[in-house]
Amino acid sequence: MYKINENFLKLPGSYLFSTIAKKVASYSKEHPDKEIIRLGIGDVTQPLAPAIIDALHKAVDEMAHAETFHGYAPDLGYEFLRSAIAKNDYQALGCDIQADEIFVSDGAKCDSGNIQEIFDGSCRIAVCDPVYPVYVDSNVMAGRTGEYDPKTETWSDVIYMPCTKENNFTPELPKEIPDMIYLCFPNNPTGSAITTEELQKWVDYANKVGAVIIYDAAYEAYITEDNVPHSIYQCEGARTCAIELRSFSKNAGFTGVRLGATVVPKDLKCGDVMLHSLWARRHGTKYNGAPYIVQKAGEAVYSEAGKAQIKEQIAYYQKNASTILNGLKEAGYEVSGGVNSPYIWLKTPDGMSSWQFFDFLLENANVVGTPGSGFGPSGEGYFRLTAFGTYENTLAAIKRIKEL
Ligand code: MLT
Repeated sequence: MYKINENFLKLPGSYLFSTIAKKVASYSKEHPDKEIIRLGIGDVTQPLAPAIIDALHKAVDEMAHAETFHGYAPDLGYEFLRSAIAKNDYQALGCDIQADEIFVSDGAKCDSGNIQEIFDGSCRIAVCDPVYPVYVDSNVMAGRTGEYDPKTETWSDVIYMPCTKENNFTPELPKEIPDMIYLCFPNNPTGSAITTEELQKWVDYANKVGAVIIYDAAYEAYITEDNVPHSIYQCEGARTCAIELRSFSKNAGFTGVRLGATVVPKDLKCGDVMLHSLWARRHGTKYNGAPYIVQKAGEAVYSEAGKAQIKEQIAYYQKNASTILNGLKEAGYEVSGGVNSPYIWLKTPDGMSSWQFFDFLLENANVVGTPGSGFGPSGEGYFRLTAFGTYENTLAAIKRIKEL
C-alpha cells in the first residue's frame, strides 16, 4: 500500500489566495447585484504592452512554418532572453552576472517554491513574518518546518523574523543561525523597502555564517527612491551567498503569460559543489523550458519600445499606489508601503482582526483585500491592498472606504 507525503496534511487551511477567491465567489453568488472591486491578489489589469503583443504575434507566426518552428526550448532558457536579462537587469546596474547564470522559468512563484529542493531536509529556514506564504508552505511540504502550533500560528523549526511597525517592517538579523534565509524586497506583503546598506548587512551576515539568501526581487520595478537596490548583486559579496528570483508578472504584466528567471551565480558553492550545477540538474530533469513564444515576448520587454511602454504601465500602477496611500491617510488609516511597491499595508481600524476587516470591507464597501494574518502572525491586525487594479476601480474603492 502506498503512503502519501504526510507533510501535506500538516498544512493549515488552503492556500491564502484560494481561500480568498472562495470567500469572494460565495459572497458574489449571494449578492449578484454587487459590484465587487478586487484589490486582493496582486494580479495586473492592464493589457500587455504593444511591443510584447507584436513579439507574441511574430513568434506565433514563426511556429506556423517548418523553417521557423520551435520545439522544446533549451531547458535553461533561450540565449537571446538570458542575454537580455543579464545585460539589462544586471550589467546595466554594474552587477557581475552573466547570461549562463540565469535560468528562465515560468514564473517566480514556481521558482520560489521549487528552489528549496536543492537543499538538505535538515536546513533551517528563516523567514520574515509576515511573509509570502509560498516560501513557508513549500518547505512544509518538504518536511523541513517541524510541527505547527495553531495557537501561535508558527512552525517549530522555522526561524521567524518579525517585521513590525517598530522596526519599520524590515527584519533584524536572526538570533538563531539559519541555513536558508528568504528575503523579499520591495516586500510582499508590507510594501517596505530596504536600503543598499541594510541589505549589505544581510549579505555580510550570510557569508559569515554560511547561509544562503533566497532573494525575491519580483517587485523591483516599483522602486522610486534612490539607495534602494534593484538587485541583491548590487551588494558586495552577494555572488557567494545569494540566489535571486525575478518575475515578468509585475513589471510587464505577465501574470497570465508566465515568465520568470532565477539567478544562481557560479561562485555560490557548498564546499566544492556549485548550487548552479544542482539547479541546472533539477531544471533539466523536471522542466522543459518556458514556451518559445513567451520567451520572445520576454525579449520584447527589453526592446527600446518595450522598455518605454512598460515604464508607462508601471507609472500607471504607481499612481494607483499613491491614490490608495494618500486616500487612506486622509481617511485616518495608519498606512505604509506604496512608495517603492505596489502594495499598501494598513492597520485595521477599531481593533478588528485582519479577517474581520476583510469581511467588513467586502460586505460594506464590496472591496476585496488580503488579510495580513494570512501572511503570518505578525500580520494580524493588518491588511494589504494592491495597486494593480484599474485607476477607475482604485478611485472608486478609496471613495467607498472613505464613506464607511
Ligand atoms: C500576491 O498577491 O501576493 C502575489 O500576486 C502572489 C503571486 O505572485 O503569486
